[in-house]
Amino acid sequence: MSNVQGNGTTQAPPDPSIALKPCDFDSVNTHVKKINELVGSISPTDNVTRNELAETARKLVRALETPRETMIKHCWAQPAAMTALTTGVELGLFEAMAADNGSSKKTADLAKTVGADPTLVARLLRHIGAMGYVEETDIDQYKPTNFTKSLVIPIISAGYPVLSGGLLSANNLFHEYQKKVGYKTPNDLSDGPLQYAYKTKLNMFEHLQANQPYGDLFNLHMGGYHQGRASWMDTGFYPVQEKLIDGADKDDKAPFIVDVGGSIGHDIQELLEKYPHIPGRLVLQDLPAVLGQIKTLDSRIERMEHNFLTEQPVKGARAYFMHSVLHDWPDVECRKILARLTEAMKPGYSKILINENVIPPRHAQWEATALDILMMTLLASRERTEQDWRDLLEPAGLKIVKIWTVQNGVESLIECELA
Ligand SMILES: C[S@@+](CC[C@H](N)C(=O)[O-])C[C@H]1O[C@@H](n2cnc3c(N)ncnc32)[C@H](O)[C@@H]1O
Repeated sequence: MSNVQGNGTTQAPPDPSIALKPCDFDSVNTHVKKINELVGSISPTDNVTRNELAETARKLVRALETPRETMIKHCWAQPAAMTALTTGVELGLFEAMAADNGSSKKTADLAKTVGADPTLVARLLRHIGAMGYVEETDIDQYKPTNFTKSLVIPIISAGYPVLSGGLLSANNLFHEYQKKVGYKTPNDLSDGPLQYAYKTKLNMFEHLQANQPYGDLFNLHMGGYHQGRASWMDTGFYPVQEKLIDGADKDDKAPFIVDVGGSIGHDIQELLEKYPHIPGRLVLQDLPAVLGQIKTLDSRIERMEHNFLTEQPVKGARAYFMHSVLHDWPDVECRKILARLTEAMKPGYSKILINENVIPPRHAQWEATALDILMMTLLASRERTEQDWRDLLEPAGLKIVKIWTVQNGVESLIECELA
């Protein structure tokens, strides 16, 4: 029997029985030994060991699974979990489950509370339970786990509807789009996989804003994504006092920091809370629709509507900060955004602080590589390696003073000054 590959070549397929054997049985013992070692030293607050243990446990599962099981997990189980969780979030199912301290509840009672067909709720929870995200306490009876309890927190739940409804068609049809364009890296943010999938000319941000509530949910989702990640302003990451506050103009009117594309202000608010004695002006810039969503923000923080592709109105700030902004844009647009900042900078005084992933040349972390694929499908953009950052920043007239980081390539702070 022969098999025609995507590239047109013909080769004999392997013996189908390999799809029914564990993917890597020989490594099982090694993973189990490492798990036992790590379990001996873990504590609930030790994130490094917890991550290593979780990664080893994932390796163990991958080694034990057969290729057929892995395929079914990807093609059925995970998409079906996304479907069930998204519908549950929209229905308010997890709020209903969390009532009475998350006590065990019958699916019929939950269905009554949320106003849905009991059979539908039972089927959704059956798969969510089979995947281990709720605890099955009896026939048609469940209680939430810590994960499903967390789905009542808007910044944790928002990702499900916005990804399912507003974005993931771009991923699902990426292979079709690639076949059509001849397998090229997308580089036009208004004519890429997302536009192909949603039949639109709008870029991702415009598309989400035009299809509410997805725009609002996306901003909440960004807040959720940042939770629990090392913050650049924490001790041991970037020395804010020595590098920014010492040597800053202390005049009340002198701009200290501009958070460019700062969304609803979570970073600048955190900075002020951690450094309440910060001098000068604190400016939050974003598009009007985004600033309009702010619920609470310290009165010291100025809200300024600004399109970062146009002239930067705040000149000579101590720092222009951008968090997860440049990864949204192809290099051509990034160069325009950077040019608007370098024009406004005061030589020898102003810095640009870029808070982004810096992907290492080897052993990239899966959260960063997943984001890289999403950047490609949604925005024709990318997560960048250190070399990619140098290739972008140095021709823009900037020198990288230092790349500050606390974890392997995950969210670093790239400190730049005019060259
Ligand atoms: C990925 S979000 C990051 C937001 C925030 N810095 C954070 O880390 O949570 C990108 C931000 O850029 C903003 N943005 C997109 N296009 C913009 C433009 N032309 N001018 C200003 N902000 C823009 C979006 O509204 C969004 O808040």
